Amino acid sequence: MVLDNRPKNLCVLVSGGGSNLQAVLDAANSGAINARVSAVISSNAEAFALTRAAKHNIPAYTVSLKDYKTRQQRDTAVLEILLKYACDYVILAGYLGIITEPLLNAYPDKIINIHPALLPKFGGAGFHGIAVHKAVIEAGEPYSGATVHYVDGGVDTGKIIAQERLAVLPNDTPESLQHRILNQIEHSLLVKVLQTLCKGEPL
Ligand code: GAR
Repeated sequence: MVLDNRPKNLCVLVSGGGSNLQAVLDAANSGAINARVSAVISSNAEAFALTRAAKHNIPAYTVSLKDYKTRQQRDTAVLEILLKYACDYVILAGYLGIITEPLLNAYPDKIINIHPALLPKFGGAGFHGIAVHKAVIEAGEPYSGATVHYVDGGVDTGKIIAQERLAVLPNDTPESLQHRILNQIEHSLLVKVLQTLCKGEPL
């Protein structure tokens, strides 16, 4: 097997704080992953992730659903940016949009998402951010964690690439659980997957 070991161009899609984006930026800067972050695209002009991109001099764009008639039209606009930067992989890092055909067709098996729970549980429409952790606690789950998966036409339904878990503590609040999962699992899990992916090795 011939490995494609040229540095990969990553485009990171965000909607919020961007701590996962930061983990990817740090890993690219330190050489831990064979990649550069070529562009950041936010669904939300106020996202702190855009400030993180600016600090690293990464071209950053806001492409917001409210400016388009359909998700497909929004994704056609996103695709134009991805093509401009010869993007190899699209990383959804806290991105709240639902991905549609223009992107799925252009990047089959090249779009990955990080989700803050152990899919297939606690995934799908409405399960994002703090709502996921609230549902996990309300369900009395002994464990939660994070999942990195390929993105397909569903919401959080694509093939699972990697998963890591931790125990839910008796006194956990949604916020404390979110904090532990982000800091103890998500950032390192995402970077670990990207290490393999960007070396051109099979996952
Ligand atoms: C992360 O916990 C991520 O897994 C989650 O949003 C948070 C974004 O944090 N994503 C979803 O819930 C998607 N379904 P960040 O902006 O600090 O990376």
